[in-house]
Amino acid sequence: MNGAKAARVSSLVALLVYFGIPMQCVLLEPDQRLSIPDGWTFTGRLAASDNVTLTFALKQQRVDILQDVVERVSDPDSLLYGMYLTLEELTSLIEPASITRFTVQKWLQSFGIEACQTVETLDFLQCSMTVGTAEKLLPGSEFSRYVKGQRSVVRSPVPYQIHKELVDHIDFVGGLHRFPKERKIVSRGWGKSKSMEGTFHLGVMPSILRQRYNLSDSDIGSASNNSQACAQFLEQYFHQQDLAEFMQIFGSGFEHHSQVDHVVGPQGGPKAGLEASLDVEYIMSTGANISTWVFSNPGRYESQEPFVDWLLSLSNLSSVPWVHTVSYGDDEDSLSVAYMQRINVEFMKAAARGLTILFASGDDGAGCREVGKGIHTFRPSFPASSPYVTTVGGTSFKNPFQVTLEVTDYISGGGFSNVFLMPDYQVAAVKHYLMTVSKPPPQSYYNASGRAYPDVAALSDNYWVVSNRIPIPWVSGTSASTPVFGGILSLINDQRLQKGLAPLGFLNPALYKLQSSGNSTALFDVTQGCHMSCFDEKVQAQGFCAAPQWDPVTGWGTPNFPKLLRALLPK
Ligand SMILES: *[C@@H]1O[C@H](CO)[C@@H](O)[C@H](O)[C@H]1NC(C)=O
Ligand SMILES: *[C@@H]1O[C@H](CO)[C@@H](O)[C@H](O)[C@H]1NC(C)=O
Ligand SMILES: *[C@@H]1O[C@H](CO)[C@@H](O)[C@H](O)[C@H]1NC(C)=O
Ligand SMILES: *[C@@H]1O[C@H](CO)[C@@H](O)[C@H](O)[C@H]1NC(C)=O
Ligand SMILES: *[C@@H]1O[C@H](CO)[C@@H](O)[C@H](O)[C@H]1NC(C)=O
Ligand SMILES: *[C@@H]1O[C@H](CO)[C@@H](O)[C@H](O)[C@H]1NC(C)=O
Ligand SMILES: *[C@@H]1O[C@H](CO)[C@@H](O)[C@H](O)[C@H]1NC(C)=O
Repeated sequence: MNGAKAARVSSLVALLVYFGIPMQCVLLEPDQRLSIPDGWTFTGRLAASDNVTLTFALKQQRVDILQDVVERVSDPDSLLYGMYLTLEELTSLIEPASITRFTVQKWLQSFGIEACQTVETLDFLQCSMTVGTAEKLLPGSEFSRYVKGQRSVVRSPVPYQIHKELVDHIDFVGGLHRFPKERKIVSRGWGKSKSMEGTFHLGVMPSILRQRYNLSDSDIGSASNNSQACAQFLEQYFHQQDLAEFMQIFGSGFEHHSQVDHVVGPQGGPKAGLEASLDVEYIMSTGANISTWVFSNPGRYESQEPFVDWLLSLSNLSSVPWVHTVSYGDDEDSLSVAYMQRINVEFMKAAARGLTILFASGDDGAGCREVGKGIHTFRPSFPASSPYVTTVGGTSFKNPFQVTLEVTDYISGGGFSNVFLMPDYQVAAVKHYLMTVSKPPPQSYYNASGRAYPDVAALSDNYWVVSNRIPIPWVSGTSASTPVFGGILSLINDQRLQKGLAPLGFLNPALYKLQSSGNSTALFDVTQGCHMSCFDEKVQAQGFCAAPQWDPVTGWGTPNFPKLLRALLPK
């Protein structure tokens, strides 16, 4: 379709809508869950004159080539290993076709929508408009307000449609259905195991982690432009004073920073969030003396999806840290496949640039979902299940008084995607697990052809965190493991940068290759314990169990820094 024709079509669409004539519209995300999550209360429809901001994900070009580029730049045996793209090069590879940009622009203009912002890669548009306009633009949508505690969002409880001419040009529209997902970080206290009752435990702090993962006091960053980041969502803020106090109490022995250097997005608020405090305090304890950024995505507009906003900011900054840790996840079955596939391409874009993206594997073990009366399956989590991120599971010390053997933390998220096929890099490892594990769960509970996760693990139990100036014990979850592992990868990047080598980028192809060689000691293999799942007769709350080599509970295991460094740093 040429430009003039697109313009005619879109003004025709506007006319038809104006006269209330039904047109040929289709659902862009027919499988997106519409039910309102627990805890949110409907408070009414918005007025037609209210404003909303919507995000349009424009269809990209040459995604197949992008995938090929990612495979090559991430494979240590490829000639192109480490030859990452700049944001500019990435843009010229995947930017939407001019017909796509033209058609979408004319469509929006025909509804009088002019207030749009794009990103460097030109594949997203964020536009504000009145509710009246939005409801005409996306037939079916009904913008309503929902509140939960202090928070309010604007969402549509009914599906939106889009004119079928746009289907080839837009992947999804953000800001209509997906509710912001809150992280539930817990201070677990004694609840975990009866045998621990009444015993005293010192808890995990930087010195314990550095001891367990074999970081000497001189294993700190010193490359001049190395950096690392964590992403925060909703009103999760860290306080510089908490970080300073944390380092004062727990940071002795190793050189470290006591300040976050750069915050992208708004930062502030009277109360610090426990999650935000945890992330910065621990990424800066393993990734010590490395410049640290926080991406803060509070969801300023009620119709925003904070997670999508984080991806937009990565696509809009040519210089970003090499390592990003994120503790965010949602049930795969609550998200549309169109949305997950597009977000997956966003991770490919990051991989092509040499960014290492780590996600927490989740805190619900294998998860559980009722698919029929009394019939359950496990419940994979996304983005943990994306084949283009490195997913981090959780462990605890077998004996809480000894900094030695780690076993499965029963909450550690893990399993098999129902959306993404198993990537080549892990086929042999997963096959080995499924062939050798003594009692796998019934096959009807998981999809053995899907992307299996996690890839690695780290301690997730009994952390000390300073938040709002108070040291808080027993903080637990894979949200703790993720920044710990991220900081360790930053230390390896640091050594690589000092040698003039490219940073690690997307780690999985190199990781699985290294580990499959047979006798790698780069990670401590976790072989004991099972994670939780459905409370039913068939599985009795047991999901997968850890086993020698890779397993869908703790991946390949936890880091042994000097060995991991040696393996990932050529002589
Ligand atoms: C919506 O945005 C327009 C333009 O920014 C502004 O003039 C108007 O007051 C806003 N309406 C409401 C109800 O906030
Ligand atoms: C991307 O960055 C540009 C300039 O730095 C800015 O004008 C634009 O608003 C940003 N895009 C979004 C979606 O925020
Ligand atoms: C690393 O730690 C383990 C156990 O904590 C220890 O056995 C080992 O000797 C340490 N050093 C190296 C280089 O692996
Ligand atoms: C800390 O990092 C800086 C570079 O950011 C480096 O100049 C300095 O030497 C490092 N400190 C130590 C003790 O190595
Ligand atoms: C880091 O330093 C290297 C070499 O000095 C340079 O090529 C690169 O552009 C720098 N990266 C950033 C993000 O500043
Ligand atoms: C299993 O996963 C594959 C891709 O990974 C998918 O095509 C298939 O539909 C999934 N099966 C179920 C039952 O979800
Ligand atoms: C383990 O390492 C030894 C010596 O480093 C090597 O000869 C052997 O082939 C390795 N085993 C496997 C299974 O790769």
